[in-house]
Amino acid sequence: MTKDFLNAMSILKIARMGHPVLLQPAQAVEAAAIAADRSLQTLIDDMIETLADAGGVGLAAPQVYAGRRVILAMAPAGRGDDDAPTPLTILVNPELELAPDEPRLGWEGCLSIPGLRGAVPRAPSLRYHGFDRSGQAVEGVAEGFFARVLQHEVDHLDGVLYPMRMADFRYFGFDEELNRLEAEARAAERNEA
Ligand code: NI
Repeated sequence: MTKDFLNAMSILKIARMGHPVLLQPAQAVEAAAIAADRSLQTLIDDMIETLADAGGVGLAAPQVYAGRRVILAMAPAGRGDDDAPTPLTILVNPELELAPDEPRLGWEGCLSIPGLRGAVPRAPSLRYHGFDRSGQAVEGVAEGFFARVLQHEVDHLDGVLYPMRMADFRYFGFDEELNRLEAEARAAERNEA
């Protein structure tokens, strides 16, 4: 076996809603040891691989059975209306300061709740800070879809799943059904135009 093979990243199993690991708060990572923490670095590599394989926009360590405060989040172009795209962002020990503005509803799915989505109220903007994978302190502001993804992922670190944030369960359903409704609505709009 080559060294490259031994260093190959792994696609991890994703816990699904109902598994207690998703309800447990994750432990903070020792910030001074981030760069030298081999298990943490491997976890981050494997989370990147797992997220890419699953085609999601975010992943939190508890979703792959690791009780550490690590998240991945991104906002690809074309998601979240006109928000600017944000590349894959890795945050260790993320902290969020939510803007006091009125929460906004937006659709969310979760790799731990496959096939479903729901409308969840979230702060429209926030400040975040934490550490990158080299152990450097990072901070920034996020708006719209990226702010939503960050709130969703940090919730995972506190054992919170998006249905626990929902206010109106009429806006909760299977992707297949909701996609069909949306396609029908778009077709009706075209006919009226
Ligand atoms: Ni999720």
